[in-house]
Amino acid sequence: MTLRTRRRFLAGAGAGLGVAAAGGFVPTRFAIGQKAKLKIGLMLPYTGTYAALGHNITDAMKMRLAEAGNKLGGREYDIVQLDDESAPPKGKDNAARLLVREKCDMLIGTVHSGVVLAMAQVAKEEDKFLVIPNAGAVDLTRKGCTPKLFRTSFSNWQPAFPCGDVALKDGAKTAVLMTWNYPAGHDSLQGFKDSFTKGGGKILKEILIDFPNVEFQAGLTEIASLKPDCVYVFFAGAGALKFMKDYEAAGLKAKISLYGPGFLTDGVYREAGSAASGIKTTLHYADDLDNPMNRKFRADFKKQTNRDCDVYAVQGYDTGTFLVQGLQAVQGDLGADKALVKAWEASKIDSPRGMFTLSKSHDPVQDIYLRQVWGGEEKYLGVAHKALADPGTGCTMA
Ligand code: BEZ
Repeated sequence: MTLRTRRRFLAGAGAGLGVAAAGGFVPTRFAIGQKAKLKIGLMLPYTGTYAALGHNITDAMKMRLAEAGNKLGGREYDIVQLDDESAPPKGKDNAARLLVREKCDMLIGTVHSGVVLAMAQVAKEEDKFLVIPNAGAVDLTRKGCTPKLFRTSFSNWQPAFPCGDVALKDGAKTAVLMTWNYPAGHDSLQGFKDSFTKGGGKILKEILIDFPNVEFQAGLTEIASLKPDCVYVFFAGAGALKFMKDYEAAGLKAKISLYGPGFLTDGVYREAGSAASGIKTTLHYADDLDNPMNRKFRADFKKQTNRDCDVYAVQGYDTGTFLVQGLQAVQGDLGADKALVKAWEASKIDSPRGMFTLSKSHDPVQDIYLRQVWGGEEKYLGVAHKALADPGTGCTMA
């Protein structure tokens, strides 16, 4: 950040920010000479296409922090919450508002890959930790990786890569790909192509539309005329719901198998009804994973929010665990940054998705599951790829 931008934020107003305090006052060694509370900047979408994703991440993360007594390494904290609207052009300003004007000690966010790339730049310039609870921009796990950047979710390549093999096994030889024209869409398509073309599959066409446009008709007409064996798409949130409905309405569902990373159906398959039925997806989570933590988390989340749990809630919960474990290791001292990096690098996160660790490029190494919507439920079909790590190509941690 330039000095000018920094001054602007120091002088500016904190519009659109929400502050939530946790716990009562407990004197710690941080009370002497500096503020006792940690200040955490939480940047997520609470409006627009990805609003539901932002809410589930937030509520589940706060749930996990409450389970830990609302303390991080014995330290109280405030969360400064900001709606990033999934708007990349506002990403740098919003991140700077949290780190510079609000003087947050660290950043958590976000959902949208374009926004997180902007956040990562500001966090690097300000030498602050950034923990990513969703956005899978591959670059941040490859050339753009940095020591203080960690992800508790996935790289967009991860859930996409096994999907190519699934389509091949189902007999598909040709595919048309469709997505929003932004980094997450490109990363996801690349993951599918890597396995599908390696196994002999042929890509007939890639169709791109601007984010968050949901006028899918032109693309669907093109798919109908190309007649591929299958279609692979990356869409999520409200856009995914609309796409599945339009795909069915266009008469394509019965003719051409539709695949995607699990973001296509997670959080929206109930509302999609028959439009989601039969769709196979690959993801690092499945509703009916048979482990006690998953069963308990799903029940607790439903009880507390009256909403159904999905992968985004799981990632929020795991981000809470990640914060609790890391800050515990350094007794709440974010200034002990080298020790904190070491602790986080050695993380073993016990999650509703199953245990995961972190790769050298600070991204989860995790099982990817094959799922299929059936009878109004998202069913686990098996492990599509065991302990999958993003290749991390070009990550030097410089
Ligand atoms: C992304 O932008 O990286 C993303 C958004 C929603 C779901 C998954 C990934």
